[in-house]
Amino acid sequence: MSKPPKISRRDALKCAGAAAAGAAAAYAGVKLLPQRENASSAATSGNGEHQPIPNSQNKTAMKVLLINGSPHKRGCTFTALSEVASALENSGVQTEIFWLGAEAVSGCRGCGVCRSTGQCALNDSVNAVAERVSELDGFVFGSPVHYAAASGFITPFLDRLFYAAGKRFAGKPGAAVVSCRRAGSTAALEQLNKYFTICNMPVAPSQYWNMVHGNSPDEVRKDLEGMQTMRTLGQNMAWLLKCIAAGRAAGIALPAYEARVATNFIR
Ligand SMILES: Cc1cc2nc3c(=O)[nH]c(=O)nc-3n(C[C@H](O)[C@H](O)[C@H](O)COP(=O)(O)O)c2cc1C
Repeated sequence: MSKPPKISRRDALKCAGAAAAGAAAAYAGVKLLPQRENASSAATSGNGEHQPIPNSQNKTAMKVLLINGSPHKRGCTFTALSEVASALENSGVQTEIFWLGAEAVSGCRGCGVCRSTGQCALNDSVNAVAERVSELDGFVFGSPVHYAAASGFITPFLDRLFYAAGKRFAGKPGAAVVSCRRAGSTAALEQLNKYFTICNMPVAPSQYWNMVHGNSPDEVRKDLEGMQTMRTLGQNMAWLLKCIAAGRAAGIALPAYEARVATNFIR
């Protein structure tokens, strides 16, 4: 196995800066989504007050999309995602919170059209996000726990997004966040984390599993450990993004993967 090239810390930082500048240029053409929200205008602090996010000293051109899979635009899941977004912004990473809405999201029909077009045959917000995956750097999927599972909004959304555009997510860090009143959080987290680990995505960690408890945003804000877990997740994701950018600038590319073998359990 060949060793990765050795470079000095100074050179790595220089390259990371160049990579960030390149990424900034790429973002110039980013399309707006209808229900997006910049976290800088939406963040809440641990005590529940809306606060401006202080200017970061080490701003990068990297951007994380946080998807709110709750039918409540500014409910408990949003409260948790906003805390992650604040920590990312404080670490110099741009964020955008995208709400899926409260209207039914169609499930995957398994028609296979996306296999040849790279787009879902049902042309809705799934395709709007799919088109932007390549220019985004990281993803956080947030969901309320509904019957010990992820919501009926984010589940069909992610099924179709990953079926159509799964390959585009490779190498981009992901994390899942859930909000529940009492139980079922780990089952929902396990479900959401599976989108990352089937698509070569590194999973950003935190100090605990990424859950908050509460039935209202106020209750969630009182879950101090949950809110701290969200902040740590944001910090870790920013760190991971910077490590990946520095590695890429130093010539460490994604592995060249083998052509996929699919045996369908027939031997
Ligand atoms: C249909 C439905 C099912 C729910 N199932 C669970 C559950 O299994 N476990 C739980 O702890 N809370 C459950 N809840 C409560 C929500 O998970 C909890 O209130 C969550 O924080 C709401 O987040 P939101 O404000 O972002 O929608 C359920 C709520 C609804 C509407």
